Amino acid sequence: MNILLLGSGGRESAFAWKISQSPKCDKLFIAPGNAGTGQYGTNINLKVTDFEGIKAFALANDIKMVLVGPEEPLVKGIHDFFLADEQLKSIPVIGPQQEGAQLEGSKDYSKAFMQRHNVPTAASRTFTRDNLQEGFDYLATTGLPVVLKADGLAAGKGVLICLTLEEARQELLEMLTEAKFGDASSKVVIEQFLQGIELSVFVMTDGTNYKILPEAKDYKRIGEGDTGLNTGGMGSVSPVHFADAEFMQKVEQRVIIPTVEGLKKEGIPYKGFIFIGLMNTYGEPWVIEYNCRMGDPETESVMPRIESDFVDLLMGVAEGNLNEKELIISNKTAATVVCVAGGYPGEYLKNKTIIGIENVRDSHVFHAGTALDGDNIQATGGRVLAVTSLQDNMFDALQQATADAARIYYDGAYFRKDIGFDLLN
Ligand code: AMP
Ligand code: GLY
Repeated sequence: MNILLLGSGGRESAFAWKISQSPKCDKLFIAPGNAGTGQYGTNINLKVTDFEGIKAFALANDIKMVLVGPEEPLVKGIHDFFLADEQLKSIPVIGPQQEGAQLEGSKDYSKAFMQRHNVPTAASRTFTRDNLQEGFDYLATTGLPVVLKADGLAAGKGVLICLTLEEARQELLEMLTEAKFGDASSKVVIEQFLQGIELSVFVMTDGTNYKILPEAKDYKRIGEGDTGLNTGGMGSVSPVHFADAEFMQKVEQRVIIPTVEGLKKEGIPYKGFIFIGLMNTYGEPWVIEYNCRMGDPETESVMPRIESDFVDLLMGVAEGNLNEKELIISNKTAATVVCVAGGYPGEYLKNKTIIGIENVRDSHVFHAGTALDGDNIQATGGRVLAVTSLQDNMFDALQQATADAARIYYDGAYFRKDIGFDLLN
């Protein structure tokens, strides 16, 4: 079958790499893709939110499945758009419809969903400019630090952890009355701070059945030792040793089952991925957030550990028989080191020529912010490449991915040399 994959980052490179290995995939198209995805299929110059363009392309190219990488088209209703169109409705879209995508698109919606289904999550309340004073009163009761979250999508920037009450009051005021994060902060969720260590758990569901994909740990800060500004993600590791069988059992019973059943009970169709951001607090799982897609750079560490045919699993999601599919997970460790542009996550250098990818010894190089300029590969985005190594043990995977990242050069290149090494202790 012909498959259309939407997106252009490292996550989509890892999807494309995995899909291209399946005998069930005839032609793979990636819209818009990047300089690396062309190795696995054909890049198509279409924006992920150009629904009419995607329609025309899908019909002209006998597309039999659409896999949506990023959240934006899901939150904007691409799946609903397909279902509402006579010519498109028989083409399965992997990714939830607009209502299910609200689990990511609105923090207020997802907190209310968790509360309805008794999913463990930090205590919270939501405020708008109409009840700002109540928000100030609530802040006085939450303890410190306190977490303020813009309700809507804010490109990963809408979460503030405030250390003092004055700071929290000031931020709440700016979010609600000065649109600090635009429309996304017209509602603000004020949430209790959770102590612990974070991990990402991924579930694939057809709306009734589910499979738990390999879990991963993601490193968000720009600096070594988890310091400095937040980024889209500087690296990832899978598996995560503290997510042992006992912990994952708690996650399944307390979080995954109530989430999948809750969606079903409420009549919310959901075919796709649920990314559960968790805090492990003294061995107990608490949900920080849901996302309606896979993580980036977690996908780059998750895909290499899946030994089964990924397209067959996607077909199980589409056809509602995921329970009949096999998911075999490798015991090896995958480590991903992300190479970013100089200056990132602030203003960063662009259009720098990348050299040395061919010197990498035992890693996959998944492209993210890259583009071709003739035969040259240019670094065009903030996150440029994700270097992933799969090895028998964690030390070797971390060491190999880090050493291979250093074999690649472009002006301003930066990567963290400590990704995953904290987990060895
Ligand atoms: P989010 O955009 O919801 O992923 O939040 C960004 C980051 O803020 C998370 O990955 C956590 O590191 C942190 N965070 C969010 N909510 C909390 C919380 N309730 N307690 C502690 N840290 C949090
Ligand atoms: N790595 C976190 C995310 O994809 O949101």
